[in-house]
Order: sequence, then C-alpha cells, then structure tokens
Amino acid sequence: MALYVMVFISALFIKVQSVISFVVIKDSTASIRNYLPPYPPPLECKPGFYPQRDLTNTPVTCTECWAGFYCPDGASLPKPCPPGRWSGPGLPLCEFAQDGNWSPGTSKHYNATEMLPCPAGFQCRQAVPGKDVTGCTKPIPCPPGTWAPPHCSECYIAQGGQYSPGTSKDSNATYWIQCPAGFECPQTHHPDDTITGCSKPVPCLPGMFSKVHAERCTSAPDGSWSPGTNRKYNATDALQCPAGYACIHTTNPDTGLSRGCMNPDPCPADFYSGPGAWQCSHCEPGTSSPGTFPDHPSIECFPSEAFDLSFQQHNLIYS
Ligand SMILES: *[C@@H]1O[C@H](CO)[C@@H](O)[C@H](O)[C@H]1NC(C)=O
Ligand SMILES: *[C@@H]1O[C@H](CO)[C@@H](O)[C@H](O)[C@H]1NC(C)=O
Ligand SMILES: *[C@@H]1O[C@H](CO)[C@@H](O)[C@H](O)[C@H]1NC(C)=O
Repeated sequence: MALYVMVFISALFIKVQSVISFVVIKDSTASIRNYLPPYPPPLECKPGFYPQRDLTNTPVTCTECWAGFYCPDGASLPKPCPPGRWSGPGLPLCEFAQDGNWSPGTSKHYNATEMLPCPAGFQCRQAVPGKDVTGCTKPIPCPPGTWAPPHCSECYIAQGGQYSPGTSKDSNATYWIQCPAGFECPQTHHPDDTITGCSKPVPCLPGMFSKVHAERCTSAPDGSWSPGTNRKYNATDALQCPAGYACIHTTNPDTGLSRGCMNPDPCPADFYSGPGAWQCSHCEPGTSSPGTFPDHPSIECFPSEAFDLSFQQHNLIYS
C-alpha cells in the first residue's frame, strides 16, 4: 500500500518525490555509509599553524604561520602583527618590541618579521609609565635638552656644561654638544624633582665670563671685569681692570652671590690706580689728580702746583 502511494505521488510531483526518498534514505543509513567515499576526520592544526584549503574550501594541510603574522588557534588564517609587535615564522603570538627597539607592525607594504633598532636621536620604550606593555610603535624624537645614541629606550639628559637642541626636522640629537666659551649650559631642577637639560647655551651676563663646557658663568674677580657676552663679543675671560679705574664686584640681592664687575669705575679726583686694581688709591699728601676722564686715566698724582697746571690743561681739552 505504501509503495503504491509513493509511486502515485512521484508521478505527479517530482519535488515531493525527493522529500520522500530522503525519508527512505534516512530509514536505511547503513547502506548510505557504504555508498559514500571514506571521509577524513576534520583537520585540526596546532597554534602557530593554519589550515590550508583546497579548491572546495576543504582544509587539507597544516601550514606554518608566516613571519610577521600570528596564528593563535590553528583554525583561522594568519593575522598581521599589530604595531609594536613582530614575529618569526610558526608563532601563535607576536612578540613585543623590546626597550630600545620598535615595530610598526605588519601592513600591506611591510611584514614585521623583526624588531627594528631605535635610531640615534630617538627613544623607543616598551611600556609607557602607567600603561600596559605595548611595545614601541614609533620612535619618539628626543626633546630639547636630551639626546640618544642608537638602541635607546630613553633619551639622556644633557649634563651641566652640555646642551642639546633635541631632535627636529633638521637635525637628530645623536650626541650632546659642549657649551661654548662665553656661555653657560645649566641643568634645571624642578620642584617635582625632575631635571631638564640645557637646550641652548645662555650668554654670560655683564660681570660674568666662562670657558668652554661651563655649567655656570664665573663672576669676574675683583680687579677684573667683563662686559658679558653680546652679539659682538664673547666673554671668554675676565678682563684686567685698566689703570685709572677700579673694578669691584656687585652682589645679586636675591642670591647673595657675586655678579662680578660689569663696568670699570673711573677714579675720582685725588685718586689714582694702576692696572688690575679693585679700588683707587688716595693721592699722597701734597699731591693731587683730576681723576679719570675718558682717554685720560688717573694713573698717578702730581705735586699740587703741577696738578693746577695739568688741571687747567685738562679743562682746555675737555671743556
Ligand atoms: C608578507 O608575507 C607574506 C607571507 O609570507 C607574503 O605573501 C607577502 O608578499 C609579504 N609581503 C611583503 C610586503 O613582504
Ligand atoms: C634622523 O634619523 C632618521 C632615522 O634614522 C633618519 O631617517 C633621518 O634622515 C635623520 N635626519 C637627519 C636630519 O639626519
Ligand atoms: C661666540 O661664540 C659662538 C659660539 O661658539 C660663535 O658662534 C660666535 O661666532 C662667537 N662670536 C664672536 C663674536 O666671537
């Protein structure tokens, strides 16, 4: 009876026939198993490998993951190493670029198969303080006052007497520079205990001078003076006080430190001096001097009568 109905239906509806034959097949799975070709068990790859597929998208072999990529589960296609990481072949995970190195990560145009050394003038830190380890994704230029050799995780601070303009478009801060004579290159200590290096030599103020590699300018000792460094003159040494003048230091009221002598002081009337004096000497009794006037330094005193004469001459010249 059942067979009779089946034949009847299949003669009318082909679609329905397939449904019914499926039912029949289900009823006899044993014979189907014999009919299909032997099917391999699904392919499973270890992490670090990925399944390579044939034209029908069937996984056929396990292939080593590519360098610059990672294969975490053995199931999916290799994934590119993200910025800050790199990999060799056959790895389940990418490595972090270590301190002093960096990696841009794998992109369309670049396979991150190794970490790259940080270039001189830059710093490459594996982790930013307070954040997770990420690996350095891009070298950071050394800021002003610092410099770095290759392979650096942190730029060095210029020591006292050195300076560095830092890395810019125009130059890489690959080494410190010696402070030139006539300038000072101090470190700055901040209230939060951080220190910054000198980024630009500071000219010595009037009264001060310096040799090369100075952290601070020196004040001109008494008996000498300095005009300080300006556009036309580098204060590389203290200048001897000229005869007819006195050179004595002034004091910075804020620090109590000597500011040196900025300007030789002309000797007043009845005073005189030789070269290198810190004060003018009083003329001996019976002698006198008109004091120092431009181009007429008071270097000695004359018997008072002679002085009257010379003073008149002086007035003729300067009035
Ligand atoms: C990156 O590696 C893959 C796999 O080895 C290779 O097919 C591709 O050409 C490489 N790309 C570059 C830019 O080297
Ligand atoms: C600075 O260093 C970078 C990285 O090594 C390099 O590409 C660049 O040409 C350098 N710039 C100068 C001005 O030397
Ligand atoms: C002063 O020193 C600076 C730095 O060494 C130098 O560039 C400059 O030419 C010097 N100026 C003079 C007037 O000597």
